[in-house]
Amino acid sequence: MRAAVQDLAYGTLRNLGLLEAVLAALLHKPVKPALYALLLAALYQLRARPRASHTTVDQAVRAVSRTEPAAKGLANAVLRNYLRDADALVARCDSEPAHYSYPQWWIDRVRAAWPQHWESILNAGNLHPPMTLRVNCRRITTAQYLATLAERGISGEAIGPQAIMIERPVPIESLPGFSAGEVSVQDAGAQLAAPLLDVHPGMRVLDACAAPGGKAGHILELADCALTALDSDPARTRRIDDNLARLGYAARVVCADCLAPAGWSDGALFDRILLDAPCTASGVVKRHPDIKWLRRESDIASLAAVQGRMLDTLWQRLAPGGKLLYATCSVFPQENAHTVESFLARSSGARLLPLAALADGQLLPDAQHDGFFYALLEKK
Ligand SMILES: C[S@@+](CC[C@H](N)C(=O)[O-])C[C@H]1O[C@@H](n2cnc3c(N)ncnc32)[C@H](O)[C@@H]1O
Repeated sequence: MRAAVQDLAYGTLRNLGLLEAVLAALLHKPVKPALYALLLAALYQLRARPRASHTTVDQAVRAVSRTEPAAKGLANAVLRNYLRDADALVARCDSEPAHYSYPQWWIDRVRAAWPQHWESILNAGNLHPPMTLRVNCRRITTAQYLATLAERGISGEAIGPQAIMIERPVPIESLPGFSAGEVSVQDAGAQLAAPLLDVHPGMRVLDACAAPGGKAGHILELADCALTALDSDPARTRRIDDNLARLGYAARVVCADCLAPAGWSDGALFDRILLDAPCTASGVVKRHPDIKWLRRESDIASLAAVQGRMLDTLWQRLAPGGKLLYATCSVFPQENAHTVESFLARSSGARLLPLAALADGQLLPDAQHDGFFYALLEKK
């Protein structure tokens, strides 16, 4: 039931651009928000499960009769009119937002930033996300874990040193060793962060925007270090504790604003800092399709300003010779390369280190992983 409701909600949001265009062609006057949403979900269901069209119309009309009885006839007419002329109707919805199912400003930004890749970036965001695991290399090897999965009838493929992509997603409770911390669920692109940070045993490490603790856990799997994990959101900070407890690692977990070091810093400097900054999350829309519709274009500049302030503040907490990894899950250069270029231009003593795996720091999203940006900065 939960899976079916999730598919309905996520599928509707993934295809919202087209569904809204189709509904606009079918409606002659505005309807109340609840009816509008229900019709969009019903249209998604009609497109996704054409063979069940009679059941879909029947259930949608019954739902309307419970919430807005007077609109029952209208809902019935709209959905039946769609079925009568579906292909021609969809063909007439030829605007870019209908075709790609993104707001126009988003399409324009991605096209301007990535003239060679813009369509594949947009299309990747409309795919179903894979389930990817991170194997805890301190407990078990990736090959051993793949064999354990196979014994349970779960097929997977190694797509990174610790990353296994599961062929068909399964509930996490059915993953062998999950509660014992042998494995975590984490996108393969996100798994690049901890190795890039180059942490060694005994180092003082700060994860400045750490919740829910995915990358913090990975850092501790790679090296026995003194980790401080900060996040400003109390509920999300509790999830860092839960994640680290499951993995069996300890860190100093603090709910605090990383922009106000007086609240969390004892004055000692860090050897490594991970700044996984708040961003538009434009690289992870296949996991969170609502992002496409909730973001405003103006968010990019506001977030870039915060990201710049975070870089300036945290840089002061980095020891000479130390490294700071700046990360976002965005594909907009304003939050990525531009943020880092502006920081380098106003800071003396900062050097951008080359990343062997990612020439320009940008990992563009595809079927296997989400989109991320990484920049490794060294303090001279
Ligand atoms: C991209 S998420 C971090 C994901 C995390 N690194 C992981 O791998 O699980 C960004 C986080 O930054 C936190 N955040 C936003 N503003 C902050 C601030 N001023 N100080 C500390 N944390 C902040 C948010 O609450 C959010 O949890």
